[in-house]
Amino acid sequence: MRIDIISVLPELLESPLNHSIMKRAQQKQLLEVVLHPLRDYGLGKNKQVDDYQYGGGAGMVMMIEPILNCINQLKSERDYDAVIYMTPDGKTLNQKIANQLSLLQNVIILCGHYKGIDERIREHIITMEISIGDYVLSGGELAAAVVVDTVGRLIPGVLNDETSALFDSFQDDLLAPPVYTRPEIYNGWKVPEVLLSGHDKNIDDWRYEQSLLRTKERRPDLLKD
Ligand code: ADE
Repeated sequence: MRIDIISVLPELLESPLNHSIMKRAQQKQLLEVVLHPLRDYGLGKNKQVDDYQYGGGAGMVMMIEPILNCINQLKSERDYDAVIYMTPDGKTLNQKIANQLSLLQNVIILCGHYKGIDERIREHIITMEISIGDYVLSGGELAAAVVVDTVGRLIPGVLNDETSALFDSFQDDLLAPPVYTRPEIYNGWKVPEVLLSGHDKNIDDWRYEQSLLRTKERRPDLLKD
């Protein structure tokens, strides 16, 4: 999968995408993330990317032309399955959307900044708008990093033990069960007996029950339909 990210502050994305699982996914060539500084496509000698909003009001708006020049350049090189805009008024990201995105080949992610982008880009160019939650970030970069991370780890072969993504919270609309590691007893706090039993069926049953219990307690909304 290839993800092209367009941003006025690509530096914000460098660290999250170049460590741990995301780094490995790119090293294994299962995921390619290419950052495009929007300013490279800015207008005039100042490389302008934003301007005052029509109708007045505080805050700048990202202009059509730099964004379109960048997107058109990318589209001339390959076909894209989605052009995503990160925005708090988009569809809230969840595991189902992440699963769907992980099946795509080429995706563009546009990070908003300032007051946002000229609405005409949203109307005519953007195919999907994603929010990572009901709060406002200073820009779309951290949100884009969240999307790349959650989608990237779902690409087959990215995780060492492929089954581990299957047991993540939210797959099957259930939260993940509790996990334990050594020591067996710490400070009098014991690991549940069943996990030490070596009985696979009992362990699977226990984990499923714990998932269900945890979901009922913490996120009953997930069990509604
Ligand atoms: N840009 C600013 N806030 C955002 C959010 N919550 N989700 C996605 N993009 C954003």
